[in-house]
Amino acid sequence: MNLPFAESWKIKMVEPIRRSTREEREQWIKEAHYNVFQLKAENVYIDLLTDSGTGAMSDRQWAGVMLGDESYAGATSFFKLKETIQRLTGFEYVIPTHQGRAAENVLFSYLVKEGDVVPGNSHFDTTKGHIEGRKAVALDCTVDDAKDTQLEVPFKGNVDPKKLEAALEKYGDKVPFIIVTITNNTAGGQPVSMQNLREVRAVADKFGKPVIFDSARFAENAYFIKTREKGYENKTIKEITREMFELADGMTMSAKKDGIVNMGGFIATRRQDWYEGAKGYCVQFEGYLTYGGMNGRDMNALAIGLDENTEFDNLQTRIHQVEYLASLLDEYHIPYQRPAGGHALFIDAPKVLTHVPKEEFPAQTLTIELYLEAGIRGCEIGYLLADRDPVTRENRFGGLDLLRLAIPRRVYTDNHMAVIAAALKNVYDRREQITHGVRITWEAALMRHFTVQLERITD
Ligand code: F0G
Repeated sequence: MNLPFAESWKIKMVEPIRRSTREEREQWIKEAHYNVFQLKAENVYIDLLTDSGTGAMSDRQWAGVMLGDESYAGATSFFKLKETIQRLTGFEYVIPTHQGRAAENVLFSYLVKEGDVVPGNSHFDTTKGHIEGRKAVALDCTVDDAKDTQLEVPFKGNVDPKKLEAALEKYGDKVPFIIVTITNNTAGGQPVSMQNLREVRAVADKFGKPVIFDSARFAENAYFIKTREKGYENKTIKEITREMFELADGMTMSAKKDGIVNMGGFIATRRQDWYEGAKGYCVQFEGYLTYGGMNGRDMNALAIGLDENTEFDNLQTRIHQVEYLASLLDEYHIPYQRPAGGHALFIDAPKVLTHVPKEEFPAQTLTIELYLEAGIRGCEIGYLLADRDPVTRENRFGGLDLLRLAIPRRVYTDNHMAVIAAALKNVYDRREQITHGVRITWEAALMRHFTVQLERITD
């Protein structure tokens, strides 16, 4: 008999979680104005809001915490982190920051000017925010495949080289760089193939443009290249990682994802001019160049986390769990962005709540229903998050409307996955009775989904 698959770690410390009653949840979500960001975490049973900063550190990372060097300048923890990043990515220059959006802020302060156009694949919302906030345009050149959630193709996160080339022809001098997000979070945690990264490099070289990778989930991307792309079966994750980064000029990193730390980020690049240009902004916004908003202990934990999470076993355990949840959803016929992504499953809400019109935000409605059903907190990646068009102020209904179930790293067991799937099935089974969604009673001008206040629409 073949032995079944099992996790590549065992558990040394646990944190209790608590179930609640439906009556309690009705009250709590109402008090939260039907916005799950406004819930108290203690009122959540299984928290799938994000995989960012929510992973469980290993015993080795905790040991690193105890050895942190908290010197203001020149801490050994910084040099350890820098050496690890250099070894994994091949980038010589490293600027630490307190998280991913801070890396964007520091680097884009140097690189992005008013009127610029930055092409890429489904820019993450803070990336877009840091571009649009500088009165520049984030131009989405993702492959059209990503828009069809039921299409099963291996690299749905790819950049469309034709769209990219057309953008570079049209905007020429206005393009400071191309940004490729690996994996593509917004399109469903979908990977970008090595071949596509090579194609992007070729187009970039043709137009003399640099390439940046938004690398929050680069290790998961490398795992998918190993397991889905021909020719990479026998390469290690670390070899694939090196090969990916050879195709970029630099990276921004939210270390809260594939670095498996609770807080942290960095910029790394081979370009001395970028380092010299951006470092002043690090001092101004983040901190001195050898800590950039991180504690010494956090830099130690990050260095160890990066090394651990570029090992196959760790990634296999993680992706296996996401795939297990996907297999249960398949059993219950619940539609999600196929194939299963790296860090999350994205439920195609309008395909579930067919009676809820788009103006009443189906994915947000499904998010609320799942919380009411079992105290599970996902989040909407859809029409609310898309904000309004900056010019017309109309809601942007052009993209997908998804409920994201992000799985924290090394935190929940497969039993929790079974609970999530069963809760979704219960909502799915009563979908015909869900005919109304929510309406906005208050919203902010930008990034409204964090603070938006909603009310339920009833007949
Ligand atoms: N880039 C990507 C692809 C991200 O997913 C995120 C964060 C960031 C940049 C910004 O990094 O949070 O460290 O400032 N994504 C989280 C999420 C918040 O839930 O997907 P940060």
